[in-house]
Amino acid sequence: MTVSVAPVSQYPRYRDDPNALDAERPLAIDDKPGPSPRRFNKKNILLVFGIAALIPVLYFFLFWAPTRKSKVYQLTATVKVADYPTELLPASSEGRLIFIGDIHGCNVEFGQLLEAVEFVPTQDKLILLGDFISKGPDSIAVLEMAMKYDAACVRGNHENTLLRRYAKKHGQKFDNDVRDRLEDGTKSGDLEHFDDDDDDDDDGEEVTVIGQSMKTKRKAMHGMMHSAVKHAVHPHGAHAHTDDDDDCMMHEMDDTLESGDFDPSTGGFVHVMADEKKIIKKASPEQIEYIDSCPLILHIPEQIFGPDGGDVAACHAGLMWDVPTLTDQEPAVVLYIRTLLPPNNSTASASRDGILWKEVWNDYQETLSPSQRRTVVYGHDAKTGLAIEAYSKGLDSRCYKGDYLTALVAKRDGLGGWKHDIVSVKCQVHDPKLPGYVDGKF
Ligand SMILES: *[C@@H]1O[C@H](CO)[C@@H](O)[C@H](O)[C@H]1NC(C)=O
Ligand SMILES: *[C@@H]1O[C@H](CO)[C@@H](O)[C@H](O)[C@H]1NC(C)=O
Repeated sequence: MTVSVAPVSQYPRYRDDPNALDAERPLAIDDKPGPSPRRFNKKNILLVFGIAALIPVLYFFLFWAPTRKSKVYQLTATVKVADYPTELLPASSEGRLIFIGDIHGCNVEFGQLLEAVEFVPTQDKLILLGDFISKGPDSIAVLEMAMKYDAACVRGNHENTLLRRYAKKHGQKFDNDVRDRLEDGTKSGDLEHFDDDDDDDDDGEEVTVIGQSMKTKRKAMHGMMHSAVKHAVHPHGAHAHTDDDDDCMMHEMDDTLESGDFDPSTGGFVHVMADEKKIIKKASPEQIEYIDSCPLILHIPEQIFGPDGGDVAACHAGLMWDVPTLTDQEPAVVLYIRTLLPPNNSTASASRDGILWKEVWNDYQETLSPSQRRTVVYGHDAKTGLAIEAYSKGLDSRCYKGDYLTALVAKRDGLGGWKHDIVSVKCQVHDPKLPGYVDGKF
């Protein structure tokens, strides 16, 4: 047996030769393969994307969500009567007081009206007559404008409903729980004044009635509603409720259809103000605070309509002629009144029966001495529309329905008195039930 050993010259040269070609080198233990340049890039890209995706998520949790969730505005006591600060009244003929009727979320027309009156924010003062939110395309935009221009306001029935819902949603007390149900002794059995609330306790939760799905119920309601309209609501004749009636039953009920429910216990409809719920979801705490700050009545201690017109009260719907002080006016009247009932015009009607409150108001003012008189600037009554009388100025000119948005512009005449103009802009049709309807609901 021979053991053969290779001669030294046959050992591979790389053992000793640092210049030996790499290709010939087998892997050494500490010679891990270097990262491939392609894999490294992929990782980098993923990392960058990951971080980029994380930024909005972090932002949401750290900044946006806490500010949105934690800030709930605490409602304050309803201000029944506020005095308009006299120092805010225009001192010279440069500044003006501009009263604006029911804007109802029609932000574009609101802007156009301000243009039409050549509104100067540093000089002019706005006074919104309530119902500036709901129904129309963008109530939040209207709120933004109102706050930007520091507009004074009175509370309308829609603002009041919003505040009531807000209180309910956040477990707060609400001190002005009035509904569209004026005390006239008759329970509003006519479907006109069914309750506009109490559909829910949690936003967006479906109310289940006798095991039916919402869709089924809606279909069923549609049928019932149309027969209800025919038989229960239109008995007074075809002209009684037309499409252009702001409070037309069809309109109210179709609102109900979109979001409300049929109440099997009463056989009536529960009216749901879906718009207010949507606005509450979108509104900032500051916007809720603005709405909360609107008094029911804004008293302007100034004879804007001349010495015979007395001082001025701005409110949403109207006042009772036989209640001498503003503080004694009933909130339900101030927010909802339209007509007064026989035999003595002393009871507000829950329907449209009776005589318009402003007729009685104007006749009554004439019986008073000029120093005791008062002029009311108001909105609410879209059906009557623009209604300028000696002691009452009704400015709801049905913008939501495509008619007009109206301002009453009061300006000092330089002789110690005031002069006024009525300025209107044409509105687009925002009511989806009317021909010419242009936009989606907010
Ligand atoms: C008006 O009529 C109602 C109902 O008939 C009655 O209760 C009330 O006392 C009357 N008010 C006045 C001031 O006469
Ligand atoms: C109710 O008011 C109207 C309008 O002012 C008036 O014509 C009528 O006489 C009043 N009715 C009563 C009973 O006072």
